[in-house]
Formats: sequence, structure tokens, C-alpha cells
Amino acid sequence: MNFKKETEIHFYKILEICGNSWNYGCGSYLFNGREYKYYQTYYPKQKLIYDIVKNKSEVLEVGVYMGHSILIMLLSNPKLKITAIDVDEKFALPSIEYLRKTFNNCKINFIKNDSVAAIKSIKNKKFDFFHLDGELDHFKMTSEFLNCINLTRGEKMTILFNGGRSCRHLISSIKKNFKVESFIKIDGPSQNYLLVLNIKDLDNNLIKSFKKNIFLENMLLKLIKYINYFFTMFFLIIHKITPKIIIKFLKKIIFNK
Ligand SMILES: C[S@@+](CC[C@H](N)C(=O)[O-])C[C@H]1O[C@@H](n2cnc3c(N)ncnc32)[C@H](O)[C@@H]1O
Repeated sequence: MNFKKETEIHFYKILEICGNSWNYGCGSYLFNGREYKYYQTYYPKQKLIYDIVKNKSEVLEVGVYMGHSILIMLLSNPKLKITAIDVDEKFALPSIEYLRKTFNNCKINFIKNDSVAAIKSIKNKKFDFFHLDGELDHFKMTSEFLNCINLTRGEKMTILFNGGRSCRHLISSIKKNFKVESFIKIDGPSQNYLLVLNIKDLDNNLIKSFKKNIFLENMLLKLIKYINYFFTMFFLIIHKITPKIIIKFLKKIIFNK
């Protein structure tokens, strides 16, 4: 059976066990969040995650939702051990239950909590693949990444960010500060970044300087965000309170309309 056909069978069964509902607007590796229909456009990122886990054994995933990315990983490697984190269990729990029954050689441990607290709570476990697909927020993803470092098995950290534009600054900081052995970017409606980092000689000084750089960048990004809000609100208010006649007059002067 080909990948698309096999995936689609489970994709519709998952919808059924989730009571034929989903969070409108929240997509996954398999659909766009507006229409529950297999989304061919995401094939490059489906293939990427499928290929990476072929030779992995223990995975940590942030952001389960309907278990679609876990489904792809299990189709590739049905014996995976997965620690899956989501702050919301509504769809995650029934989907994981379905996947456990369908792939009875896998092990899925579900943690319902905020990602950072959940990652920090993991003891005595090491992972050879990390998949960050939770909150699309630069600050959150930075904390997730930093806390995952200690949970890496061996000297190489393989990590996939499905963070789109929200994590592009984080990715460029990682590239500047860490030893990147391999880097793949998948373009499309939402960018994916796969990195293999050599963390063998990672010392506290490097982590400290990374945190310092990223802290300054975070502050700058926050500042830009607030300035942006401020000007948007400012112009909205001006637009609301300025009499139409003055707007007409200004448009005439500025745009010659
Ligand atoms: C885009 S969906 C994940 C899609 C899934 N990986 C897939 O492709 O099948 C994002 C998920 O992240 C979860 N999430 C959002 N913020 C979170 C947080 N701070 N901690 C843990 N999970 C979070 C949401 O509840 C949602 O289920």
C-alpha cells in the first residue's frame, strides 16, 4: 500500500474516534485545519519526518493534537517509543489510544501539561529525536529547545522545529552558536527546520552566551511587537476620531486623490 493511501485510512478513523470534530483553524501534518482532507501540499514535511525516524528509537514530541505526526512516525517505524506532550487532551487522548491499539509494538507515554514544565519533569530518559510542534512562539520554543538539550542521547541532537516564521530567529541563533552538522529547511505554507547539532563539547559558557544573545533578541522582538501594536492602535484611534472631512483633505494632499 502506498503512503498516502495507508495514511488516509488512519486519518479518517482518527476523525471518527474524535467525534467527527477538530479545532477549526488548527492544522497538522496532514490537513490544513479548515477542511478535514488529506493535504498533499504538506507531503515534503510528511516525508521528512517519516524518513528521520526510520533509524530512531526514542522520540519526544511537543504538540500532539490528533496524533497525525505520531501516525506518520509510526508508519515509518512501528516500534518507536514516544513521549508525547500536549497541554490539551481533548483530541490527543483518544487519538493516542487509537494509535496504541493500531501499532501494538510502539510505546506512547502521554504527558498533559505545558511543554516546558513537562520537558523539565522528564527524568531518567534520553531521546534521539525531538519534534517541537506546539505553541508557535519564539520564547516558548527557545525554552523548549534549551530544556531538550539535557535529554539528548549521545553527542548528536536531532531536532525538528515545525515553527514556521515564529522560530526563524531561534534557528539563526542556533546556527550561529552551535556546531550544526546538518540543516534542512522545508519551505511551504509553514516552514520546518531540521537540525543535527553536535553537542559533544557543549560547555556552560556556550550555553550562557547563547542564552544572553537570545535574551537580547527576545527583548528586541518584544519591543518591535509592542511598537507595532502601539502604532496600529494609534492610527486606528486617529482614524476613528478624525472627522471624515479632514481624512478626505489629508488624502487629497498626500495621495492627490
Ligand atoms: C499544530 S498542533 C500539533 C499538530 C501535530 N504535531 C500533528 O501534526 O499532528 C499544536 C498542538 O500544540 C499544543 N500546544 C500549544 N501550546 C502548548 C504548550 N504550551 N504546551 C504543550 N502543548 C501545547 C496544542 O494543544 C495543539 O494540540
